[in-house]
Amino acid sequence: MRFHVLTLFPEAFEGPVRHSMIGRAIQRGLISVQITDIRSYTHDAHGTADDYQFGGGHGMVLKPEPIFAAVSDSLSPYDEESRPSIPIVLLSPQGRRLDQQLVLELAEAPAMALICGHYAGVDERVRDHLATHDVSIGDYILTGGELAAMVVIDAISRFVPNVVGSAENVLEDSITSGLLQHPLYTRPAEFRGLAVPDILRSGHHGEIDRWRRQESLRRTLARRPDLLDSAHLTEADLAYLAELGHKSTAETSDIHPNLDESSHS
Ligand code: ADE
Repeated sequence: MRFHVLTLFPEAFEGPVRHSMIGRAIQRGLISVQITDIRSYTHDAHGTADDYQFGGGHGMVLKPEPIFAAVSDSLSPYDEESRPSIPIVLLSPQGRRLDQQLVLELAEAPAMALICGHYAGVDERVRDHLATHDVSIGDYILTGGELAAMVVIDAISRFVPNVVGSAENVLEDSITSGLLQHPLYTRPAEFRGLAVPDILRSGHHGEIDRWRRQESLRRTLARRPDLLDSAHLTEADLAYLAELGHKSTAETSDIHPNLDESSHS
């Protein structure tokens, strides 16, 4: 996956891009992150990338010309045929809320451009005539799209083969599997008098799988019952949820959700 980021603050990406799993994925050539300074596509002595709003109002607006030019240059290595498959993502609080479904959709592409908005916003012609996706990372306002772009890069990179563990692990994660993850424990078996559940130390793998599934269901019901509407649930799942007092409208499936997914790149 090749990420092309367009920003007024290239230095904001230095830390995240150099460190952690993303940094290692770049070093290993699994992903690339190209940062382009929108200001280098301005043509006046001050590098003016924003201007006053037509119609009046508080706050400056990012001008369209440098953004169109920067995207065009960033995507110039791709031929006419592959260009339509490259999402041009505008990060803004007005966009479609990012969730694992959207992450999976975007992860199918070979590359993407990420436009980081700033100030009051970007000229609407960028949204209407350049961006293919308008994406928000949540219902709150950030000072700019940089952190949002990093979130998108991080979430998508996890689906690039070999960036994290095995494809199965990624697909079994919270949310991707349709349910929240079961509790996790590591050594010591007892810490400050708090013991790890016996079942996890029993060695009975069938029983452990059942316990984990039930804990996932219990936790999802308690914290995110909305997820149960679209999760693939077996008869056994529904019976357990009924024991917990949940009345389900969901369709049942005999296929375990974690085995029901193909791997994504
Ligand atoms: N820019 C400012 N706030 C944002 C948000 N919530 N998501 C994406 N981009 C943003």
